Amino acid sequence: MGKTITKEEFSLAKVDAVINKYVGKPGGLLSILEEVQNLNKHKYLPEEVLAYISKKTAIPLSRIYSVVTFYAFFNLKPQGEHSIIICRGTACHTRRSKELLEFIKKMLGIKEEESQEGEKVFLTTADKKFTIKTVACFGQCALAPVVEIDGVIYSHMTENKLKELVSRIARRGKAK
Ligand code: FES
Repeated sequence: MGKTITKEEFSLAKVDAVINKYVGKPGGLLSILEEVQNLNKHKYLPEEVLAYISKKTAIPLSRIYSVVTFYAFFNLKPQGEHSIIICRGTACHTRRSKELLEFIKKMLGIKEEESQEGEKVFLTTADKKFTIKTVACFGQCALAPVVEIDGVIYSHMTENKLKELVSRIARRGKAK
């Protein structure tokens, strides 16, 4: 086990192993970033880790940042253990996705002033259990409103259904 470089327990030995696996290969940087992000249970890439990757791969930090900020699946902030993604596209909006978003924010005790980061909604509960995000469209508009919870798509979502799923995760760690 290597020493850690952040309090979130990134092991340098594990980061090194990922770098060695992909360095110099086509698409190597993307693979490195993706696997390193998954080394941490909060699924994010802290600044120190990006600087470390830059040093070890000799890829300029500015290039690494441009990749991380371009792709939606990279996170610069800690994610909750569970993710709830609410679709805010037109079809879902007309079927009350905004109300679903407000409902879940209230249910998880997230205050409005903590909730906005630029255009995108990105919220994590204080205990880092849940992260709520929004997406422009899941491409499943016929099933609106659509919500994704821990990678599973749920269609025709209602407040009651959402409450039930999230309560189950809070109790048992999973929705099913
Ligand atoms: S608008 Fe929500 S899935 Fe397309």
